[in-house]
Amino acid sequence: MNTLQSDAFVFFGAMGDLAFKKIFPSLQAMVQRGNLKVPVIGVDRSAENVDDLKARARSSLEKSGKFDAAAFERLSSLLRYVRGDITDLATFQTLRKVLDDAQRPAFYMAVPPSIFPAVVAQLAKAGCTEGARIILEKPFGHDLPSAQQLNRVLFATFAEDAIYRIDHYLGKRQVYNMVYFRFTNAFLEAFWNRHHIESVQITMAENFGVQGRGGFYDETGAVRDVIQNHLFQVLANIAMEPPVRTDSESIRDEKVKVLKAIQPLQPQDLVRGQFRGYLDEKGVAPNSQIETFAAMRLEIDSWRWKGVPFYIRAGKLLPVTCTEIVARLRRPPTIFGNQTLSQNHVRIRINPDINIALGLNVMSPIAVGVGESVEILGSFLPPPEEMDAMAGDATLFARQDYVEAAWRIVDPVLKQGTPVYTYEPGSWGPDEADQKVVPPGGWHNPVISD
Ligand code: BG6
Repeated sequence: MNTLQSDAFVFFGAMGDLAFKKIFPSLQAMVQRGNLKVPVIGVDRSAENVDDLKARARSSLEKSGKFDAAAFERLSSLLRYVRGDITDLATFQTLRKVLDDAQRPAFYMAVPPSIFPAVVAQLAKAGCTEGARIILEKPFGHDLPSAQQLNRVLFATFAEDAIYRIDHYLGKRQVYNMVYFRFTNAFLEAFWNRHHIESVQITMAENFGVQGRGGFYDETGAVRDVIQNHLFQVLANIAMEPPVRTDSESIRDEKVKVLKAIQPLQPQDLVRGQFRGYLDEKGVAPNSQIETFAAMRLEIDSWRWKGVPFYIRAGKLLPVTCTEIVARLRRPPTIFGNQTLSQNHVRIRINPDINIALGLNVMSPIAVGVGESVEILGSFLPPPEEMDAMAGDATLFARQDYVEAAWRIVDPVLKQGTPVYTYEPGSWGPDEADQKVVPPGGWHNPVISD
């Protein structure tokens, strides 16, 4: 694996939406941390010159409320611009000149996936790919065959260790912290298996809708948008075996094993919902059957997890914005008469704040011999998202075998089509989720305190 720092950063689609919302703020954050000192080359056709690009960067930072005059000044001094059509070879020949003597450029594809093949082909033709890395945002295909096709296109020019597939959930330190938490604490491993864990549930709730992205969302839906990628990464972190080392491949090897141990999802294990009003969103087909909510049950056929159901639920326009995992332990035998004790749990919240909580039974302070359940809580502030492609660290990026294994689980049932139930905005999804795909003890609905 090439761990040398990239010596130029090139982003295609420099005037587009992704660059505006995500890339400029990340670049400024890297400048602030002293991690960006190389030329930053925007490629697009709509800006006239580099001044237009700088103005766009400034407006992005101002709009996000992150503008820092000194850091912006330094970022501006690194910005270069190549104007041209990104399917046209001449654009890439100009880029080759602007790259000058850069030996290890990083190419960031902030363009629609349909254009990836053309960009990759032109980069190769213009002699830009030697020593280079390529960075792509999800979605990595729309299904298994299209993901495999995308990989074929990339592998024609780049080796796997030069390809960085961004799932921004992996860039959240609190998601990686789950791996750290699991494998640095002695007490957890003793019960983190099918002998003691009864079920696990993961909820990713968002209290907003499709936010003007109706066109994109209506080709995607909740399963493809956040479950097949973000929440499967969370699942892999919870369920993986201890990696033999902490290098990227050792960790990614263990994660992919988790997905390979999951059978394709069955129709009876999936409930899809659509919030009332979705059909009126701009860009959404009038009779759309796309889900804005999904709840599913999966099983991991491994020595550690055989027989433990894993539930995943994600939805738009739910009551709160929160991502949380709850692992419920089996009921202990009790010597205290016929009291029904609460089952212990481990609760890990990764968004908006970070909590690690253990749910326990203690004796009530007011009634002797009567139990009550409490949580021991550790709470932390979320750190900033990270970006390690420039430094050549692949741990926080998805590998090709992982992407394909994830599609294998959800692809058949999505193609088959299952009913879509309407739910009210502000509710916890359709009633069917609480009837057909329901964890033992019910869904745990995260509560956000003010
Ligand atoms: C994106 C999805 O990948 O992740 C969005 O396309 C979703 O629909 C978002 O809202 C959630 O990410 P975060 O970091 O805002 O929780």
